[in-house]
Amino acid sequence: MQNQLKPKLSINDAATMLGVTPQAVHLRVRNNQFKLSLSGNKQYLTHAEARAVFSDLLPKYKKTIIAIHNVRGGVGKTTLANSIAVRASLYGAKVLCIDADKQGNLTESFNVDADGKKILFDLISDPALSIKDCIIPVTDGIDLIPSRIENSLIDRLINSKGGRLDLIYPKILKGINLLDTYDLVLFDCPPEIGFNVQSIMFFCDYSLTPVTPDKYSLNGLRVIDQMFDAMVEDYKPENRPYFRVLFNKYDNRTKLSFHMLKMVQDNPVYSANMFNCFIQTNSDFPNQLNSSISSYDNLKHSTSKEDIDVLVREILGLE
Ligand SMILES: Nc1ncnc2c1ncn2[C@@H]1O[C@H](COP(=O)(O)OP(=O)(O)OP(=O)(O)O)[C@@H](O)[C@H]1O
Ligand SMILES: [Mg+2]
Repeated sequence: MQNQLKPKLSINDAATMLGVTPQAVHLRVRNNQFKLSLSGNKQYLTHAEARAVFSDLLPKYKKTIIAIHNVRGGVGKTTLANSIAVRASLYGAKVLCIDADKQGNLTESFNVDADGKKILFDLISDPALSIKDCIIPVTDGIDLIPSRIENSLIDRLINSKGGRLDLIYPKILKGINLLDTYDLVLFDCPPEIGFNVQSIMFFCDYSLTPVTPDKYSLNGLRVIDQMFDAMVEDYKPENRPYFRVLFNKYDNRTKLSFHMLKMVQDNPVYSANMFNCFIQTNSDFPNQLNSSISSYDNLKHSTSKEDIDVLVREILGLE
């Protein structure tokens, strides 16, 4: 395993999240016989300790399977998948990330080399394979099904096999319930609406759809809504798949951000399931993706971490 990711949570942050004193966090750690590690002169929690410290919250987590998707490229899907996974793991949640994008950016962001590893294409093409054969550990609390360019063949494969798109993922899982093992499953989707993306949408509880303040973003939402209409017409699922809009790269200094947010909020379809929080533009994100090290590898405070924390709380149902 190539493992450079070492996400950390400061004792003070854990205390703030729990609404208790730092001393109370220390006590919980000691009661669970953990020994805290040091970064400089600061003690911190890793996933394993967080799981013990947040043990009261664990049963309350809303276990969810989420597709992070927008037909528009570059809106932050991969960045958010990485950050949500890391942050949720520091709440003690067990996270499975599934890189469904042939670009493999999420795989790279976790510093994993997908060469020679099983990917989604293998899972869909080989009925003898179990999903468990494709899952690799990234770091404590985060597992991954990696991706590489061969995943560009999935749509052709699904098309040649025929059959219902809403049954693709239930079939390849062969009765395995991912939420028995994981608290959160995140698919990082490519910016398209092909057969695989639609199959993923049917399988997930909802799609987290980032939009950014640019004038084409709303066109993407319109197309996704049309895609859902077509999926419902074709397969008549019991529950209509839906997307939850998340505003990303929000910049309160620009009028465009303000106007775009208002346009989304004023649209009854988009606003119905919109996330309450939004993610501000912050250079931490590109820095983090380029270095393949999570910004949680250090204990510094930042607004990007605060924004992701609020989002993860909303996803886990901790509000
Ligand atoms: N809140 C943010 N603030 C600043 N930069 C951001 C933010 N979110 C994402 N970015 C940057 O935007 C760029 C695109 O992000 P990312 O690769 O996550 O998008 P994507 O939607 O996954 O793209 P693709 O459609 O190609 O898969 C990256 O450089 C990323 O660091
Ligand atoms: Mg991406």
